Amino acid sequence: MVSGRVSSYTSPPQSTPVAKPVEKHVGRILAIANQKGGVGKTTTAVNLAASLAVAEQRTLLIDADPQGNATSGCGISRDDFSLHTYDVLLGEATIDQALVRSVQFRHLDVLPTTPDLAAVEVELVDVEDRVSRMRDALKPIRDRYDVILIDCPPSLGLITLNMLVAADALLIPLQCEYYALEGLSQLLGTVQRVQDSVNPALDVDSVLLTMYDARLNLSRQVAADAREHFGEKVFQTVIPRNIRLAEAPSFGKPIVVYDVASVGAQAYMAVAHELIKRLATEKSEDVAAAEAPSDSTSGSIANDAASTPASEHTA
Ligand SMILES: Nc1ncnc2c1ncn2[C@@H]1O[C@H](COP(=O)(O)OP(=O)(O)OP(=O)(O)O)[C@@H](O)[C@H]1O
Ligand SMILES: [Mg+2]
Repeated sequence: MVSGRVSSYTSPPQSTPVAKPVEKHVGRILAIANQKGGVGKTTTAVNLAASLAVAEQRTLLIDADPQGNATSGCGISRDDFSLHTYDVLLGEATIDQALVRSVQFRHLDVLPTTPDLAAVEVELVDVEDRVSRMRDALKPIRDRYDVILIDCPPSLGLITLNMLVAADALLIPLQCEYYALEGLSQLLGTVQRVQDSVNPALDVDSVLLTMYDARLNLSRQVAADAREHFGEKVFQTVIPRNIRLAEAPSFGKPIVVYDVASVGAQAYMAVAHELIKRLATEKSEDVAAAEAPSDSTSGSIANDAASTPASEHTA
């Protein structure tokens, strides 16, 4: 089931005598995932990343889908890079070496991909640290960003697992269509397994309703069901079905460049602002928690925290 955990940037306060405010700016890592195909993962990854960059958030977009649609959707062609996500997961390049910097916007960097990435599913199968490759690769660079978005493929294989292990939270795009919620149990089951093993801090903290058509009862019903099920995790903003959003990738442009006045562009900008607000709230809660007297937290909680990946965020 859906985790009720409050998402956090840092480990829970530990029993140190001096309270230390969180000073370092650590990038929140959001995996955009839904194993159902065509629900708007890539459209959300590209356009939310671009909207965040427009709002001067330092943003990294990782293309983790061998289809490479986020790479091309940002206007990056095969000639623009040599190293990519495959090389990073195989340990043959650092993210720094493979990044394409300032893609269309000063604040947007992209880790591109090619169809080669699909081979990772086979090539890493017998490798011991196979699920933590992306998490380890992100460690040295995450504090350079405000937000890191990962576009996941429509499957729950080794690539998606790597991204769930690396992520602080999931952002689930939910297409306002038949069976939108039914398909989620498999994804949430995988999330649960990741939480129970390698990444206890993983949170499902946002759901975005996509391809919403206000004229259809069905769209309204799916939206109502999602809000009932996920509560405040669902963004207030819904992404409407908008032809300009579907056209933009063939021009290699995020919607804010292709048609800033479109309802699609306005919607993704609104989601970006909601996200920025949420992250600011979480950050101030973390600072407050870090400054709070620490005697109430000792023993098992502190010990648990020491063994969670979340504790690495302040390292
Ligand atoms: N709000 C929207 N309005 C109109 N078309 C959209 C919208 N969102 C996405 N699309 C179109 O729907 C198709 C699927 O979207 P997208 O590629 O983002 O889904 P996906 O979940 O990434 O797919 P996959 O599972 O194959 O990776 C694309 O052709 C895209 O242009
Ligand atoms: Mg996609």
